[in-house]
Amino acid sequence: QRPVLRLLSCPGTVAEDLRRDEQPPGSVETGFEDKIPKKRFSEMQNERREQAKRTVLIHCPEKISEKKFLKYLSQHGPINNHFFYESFGLYAVVEFCQKESVHSLQNETCAPSKGIEAAIPFRSRFFNLKLKNQTSERSCVQMSNQLPPSSKKLFQVLCDAESIDDQLNTLLKEFQLTEENTKLRYLTCSLIEDVAAAYFPDCIVRPFGSSVNTFGKLGCDLDMFLDLNETRNLSTHKTSGNFLMEFQVKNVPSERIATQKILSVLGECLDNFSPGCVGVQKILNARCPLVRFSHQASGFQCDLTTNNRIALTSSELLYIYGALDSRVRALVFTVRCWARAHLLTSSIPGAWITNFSLTMMVIFFLQTRSPPVLPTLDSLQTLADAEDKCIIEGNNCTFVRDLNRIKPSENTETLEILLKEFFEYFGNFAFNKNSINIRQGREQNKPDSSPLYIQNPFETSLNISKNVNQSQLQKFVHLAQESTWILQQEDLDGPDTSGNRSWGLVALLLPSGANRKSVGKKKSKKATSEKIKVLLESIKSNRTENFTDTNGK
Ligand code: GTP
Ligand code: MG
Repeated sequence: QRPVLRLLSCPGTVAEDLRRDEQPPGSVETGFEDKIPKKRFSEMQNERREQAKRTVLIHCPEKISEKKFLKYLSQHGPINNHFFYESFGLYAVVEFCQKESVHSLQNETCAPSKGIEAAIPFRSRFFNLKLKNQTSERSCVQMSNQLPPSSKKLFQVLCDAESIDDQLNTLLKEFQLTEENTKLRYLTCSLIEDVAAAYFPDCIVRPFGSSVNTFGKLGCDLDMFLDLNETRNLSTHKTSGNFLMEFQVKNVPSERIATQKILSVLGECLDNFSPGCVGVQKILNARCPLVRFSHQASGFQCDLTTNNRIALTSSELLYIYGALDSRVRALVFTVRCWARAHLLTSSIPGAWITNFSLTMMVIFFLQTRSPPVLPTLDSLQTLADAEDKCIIEGNNCTFVRDLNRIKPSENTETLEILLKEFFEYFGNFAFNKNSINIRQGREQNKPDSSPLYIQNPFETSLNISKNVNQSQLQKFVHLAQESTWILQQEDLDGPDTSGNRSWGLVALLLPSGANRKSVGKKKSKKATSEKIKVLLESIKSNRTENFTDTNGK
């Protein structure tokens, strides 16, 4: 039996993990992982959106010749880029050089005829390719992996790393979104935009949250924002002369009701007409109303919201922080992974710390270093120019958007030091009286008695971790202290020559208690691996109870 470590998000079942292990070697490596984006957020979003509009999604037969497939599609125009992936069937993402090629393909495509009782006619960019001659093709396509590494693989690569710094960078490399996965996310938004455009022709469906803020990991959910700004702004366009023309519109008592009505209708549309959207739930009474659904072909769990511009701005701010210094993402991924491994986070709403809050804690910590690794939000605001000025619902969301105008940090601390210091800092933080505030980058008095107070960077009177209760906070503090202790023990013991493989980050990710026995005492390699095996098996059997989510939140 294969061991399964209690690590990170566990998308799907053990069976899925096993399937992943069976993947042929040589899945596509894109090189994307080492690049730190330096483009402006808006620039990057516009480029990706434009790319997605020239792209189609095709469900392919299991046996297909890549060469013939590309030749067939090239009849409609040159292809810029393509890749295949597996998700309950074989899919291809094909990006044409020109948008017209998509129209040409749509014009040649027919509605399904056989075996369907009653099909709802819908011309989307999601196709089904069939072979006329079932037997003649050989499967010879290379697959792009869309799933996070299995726990077994992660365990191996972390153990084989050369240093704790190497472990943190390896973890980042294994989990971060690949170029292909990012493309698939933008394509999914673009497909949903086609549906929404039936009602709101000028709408834009934009991804936000971890899909775009540089902190997304394979398997995370896809947060989408239905942007109706263009439609809304139509009425504010100035006209010349004595007349002013306005659209006749329906009025409702509040913005919230307008949001609920729009999302309700779109939820119905996705449910009834949009191929591949299943399990549509309208969660309209939430603080931030949303429509949740699964996009089957991409495998993404999607949350569609509207009137949520501040969340998009938060994503832009995190994007900047993630892009400023290569240590930031490695540390955030590690802390999120550590929190997940110790069940400090969960996708089920409740008193858990969210990934968003954890990211804020890491950013805050990095602002407090001397010299700081990251600038405060106030200083990013000082660097802003007229173009960056942004007020949303009365909240000042102004900060510099051009990454090149922010001076690099002079801090040279290693990831190992930063990780140790992070645990030490929060293991001793005066949560009872102080709040965390990335605007000023220093501790402030708590304005209320919430156990954990992390100031919302833009709606500054709000606490983003209001949901966290005392016992979850205590658990976090206790685990941070334990992690400090584990890392200190490793320092005292020096390099491990006993063959104990659970060192460094692996020791931190193992369930609490397991470390006290394994760290600090030299044991034989065999005994240790036996112990880990037993432990892993017990985790595996608990896993279905503990990990019902698929997005690692
Ligand atoms: P994942 O756990 O990987 O999905 O991280 P995420 O950052 O995408 O978090 P999530 O899907 O929960 O939320 C999406 C986005 O909504 C976040 O990135 C934030 O911009 C915003 N958001 C989430 N929770 C809060 C909150 O409590 N307060 C505020 N102001 N914004 C939030
Ligand atoms: Mg998310």
